[in-house]
Amino acid sequence: MFDAKKFIEDSLEEIKKAVGKDRVISACSGGVDSTVATALVHKAVGDSLVAVFIDDGLRREGEPEFVVKTLKNLSIKTKYIDAKKDFFEVFKGKTDAEEKRKAFRDKFYKTLGKAAKEEKIKFIVQGTIKADVIETVGGIKSQHNVLEQIGINPETYGYKILEPLKELFKPEVRMVARELCLPKEVSERMPFPGPALSLRVLGEVTPERVAIVRKATEIVEEETRELGTFQNFAVLHNDKATGIKEGKRVYGNIITVRIVESKDAVTAKARQVPYEILMRIAGRITGEIPSVVRCLYDITDKPPSTIEFE
Ligand code: XMP
Repeated sequence: MFDAKKFIEDSLEEIKKAVGKDRVISACSGGVDSTVATALVHKAVGDSLVAVFIDDGLRREGEPEFVVKTLKNLSIKTKYIDAKKDFFEVFKGKTDAEEKRKAFRDKFYKTLGKAAKEEKIKFIVQGTIKADVIETVGGIKSQHNVLEQIGINPETYGYKILEPLKELFKPEVRMVARELCLPKEVSERMPFPGPALSLRVLGEVTPERVAIVRKATEIVEEETRELGTFQNFAVLHNDKATGIKEGKRVYGNIITVRIVESKDAVTAKARQVPYEILMRIAGRITGEIPSVVRCLYDITDKPPSTIEFE
């Protein structure tokens, strides 16, 4: 049985030993993994830690404000970096899923490396967990936060990496979050991938297309809050379909809704959501987002699907 208290005690020792008198920078997206990693390192080294929130323009509605506020409430020194333009620039013309993931990863590390250099910091903390490592090393996908395990030396980006959670799975990370007394909105937060909405915009990632999926995501989350499922979200397709709006033919966008049950994201089951909920979601998505004419529900488990589409 995993002992969160013991894990925290051991981690604090290890982190202190690794960091010594150096300063540390932490990339915090606000997800449970990166927030727990940040809080843990903060507990170990206090004000030697600076947390950065990189605003890549791919976050959910209200997320940048939520993350910065959460970190400040935890008394962690926090820096907001507006990198929206830079990220959209690297996505230009890219439609292949792996190419997009690698572009995100590269921009992410460069942005972080620059911030670390400006702050004269050698150590980067990140919330990599065991499932991220397994999937990337196994060749399933290039998780944005896995480098060393696939032979990329983080020093090429100019720093050393600290990954205090890399031996844990998600349920254990949540246990650590509760033990650290992090707010419920963090410890029980729905998983959200580092590359964020870029994984849910199939094809080219543009500000306009991200805005569509962001709104659809907000609707799905609002309508499924009571389900207690592992992950609920929307995906924008790269194809279009015919529909009718205000009596006229529209060749518009397609959104797929995905709602899954899972313990650790290694396997997942599509949830048998009551039809009324699905109909309400479809009605709202096609009604509130002008360009969307069709809404689908994904009934595939993992495997053979993955949770995300990309
Ligand atoms: P898949 O799609 O592999 O997702 O079934 C498993 C879990 O991991 C999340 N995920 C990611 N998280 N960086 C992350 O931080 C990534 O690149 C990434 N890709 C997938 C996904 O949302 C699910 O919870």
